[in-house]
Amino acid sequence: MLTTSLLTILSAFALVRAQNTTNNPQLEVQSIDAQFDNSYLVPDLLASFDPLAFLTVSYGGQPISAGTLLPVNDTQAVPTITITPANSSVSLGDLFTLAMVDPGAIGKLSTPGPTRHWLVNGVTIGANGVLSVPQTAITAYGAPYPDEADAPHRYAILLWQQPASFAPQGDLANPGQPITQFDLNSYVSSSGLGPVVAGWYFTCTRGDAVAPTITSAVDIRTLPAYAAGTASGSSHSASGTHTSTGSPNGALSSISFKPVTALAGVAAAIFSVAFF
Ligand SMILES: *[C@@H]1O[C@H](CO)[C@@H](O)[C@H](O)[C@H]1NC(C)=O
Ligand SMILES: *[C@@H]1O[C@H](CO)[C@@H](O)[C@H](O)[C@H]1NC(C)=O
Ligand SMILES: *[C@@H]1O[C@H](CO)[C@@H](O)[C@H](O)[C@H]1NC(C)=O
Repeated sequence: MLTTSLLTILSAFALVRAQNTTNNPQLEVQSIDAQFDNSYLVPDLLASFDPLAFLTVSYGGQPISAGTLLPVNDTQAVPTITITPANSSVSLGDLFTLAMVDPGAIGKLSTPGPTRHWLVNGVTIGANGVLSVPQTAITAYGAPYPDEADAPHRYAILLWQQPASFAPQGDLANPGQPITQFDLNSYVSSSGLGPVVAGWYFTCTRGDAVAPTITSAVDIRTLPAYAAGTASGSSHSASGTHTSTGSPNGALSSISFKPVTALAGVAAAIFSVAFF
């Protein structure tokens, strides 16, 4: 019994330690890519998602982890967003369209299409990768307000390349459009937007219903950039060993976790659990 709970705490501890993707943008990008699959944003919202960069989204000055279940109250003010390319070879472009869209709860999609909570054209990248979002919005930012009976809705913030030929059609060519459901795919194709370069999401509920499946967690040890040996760092030493068996750019690696060697961390882990 005791051993079981120790092991549970230990593995939670190990996973948290292993999830530190700081200073590894490629790993961050692969992580959000996998999270879009795990949360069914692909295919519920996008047919495919191949990000070139990752977004850091802050509400109230606080960076929020992707997939976090946020209280409605914490989402009232417009978030600030920074973008970080996966690597120095990535070319993001100059102009972007930004949106926040909600396809609904897992297993209960909004029809006829996702709800548009924010849509702005002509976004640029400012100093330190902070997105510079024009005041004039097609749809001004509007916080989540999901149906109280629903399981958590997923709010995706997406950034598309906006080519010079971009030509939005109908109402969506004009500012001041309300928060409403719309045909996202048709907007993207008819306006000639480029590919999604980055995306991020959080979840929000106003009731007690839980999603039948929500699997935001991604074990970064399963991602290619981890195997490429670029994820090394002090963050992994407490929970396991990471052995690269190949060249720095890309060979397979073997990862072995040795819980027993990390037993010294258990006391600390129990301590933190007790006080959280
Ligand atoms: C993640 O790792 C970085 C440097 O490798 C460190 O500065 C940071 O504190 C770590 N974050 C957590 C939550 O462990
Ligand atoms: C840079 O990142 C992109 C997007 O993840 C990836 O497709 C590309 O292979 C990476 N290039 C290098 C040189 O690592
Ligand atoms: C959310 O904000 C409203 C208005 O400021 C307040 O009345 C309410 O108590 C808050 N709810 C929670 C759960 O913090």
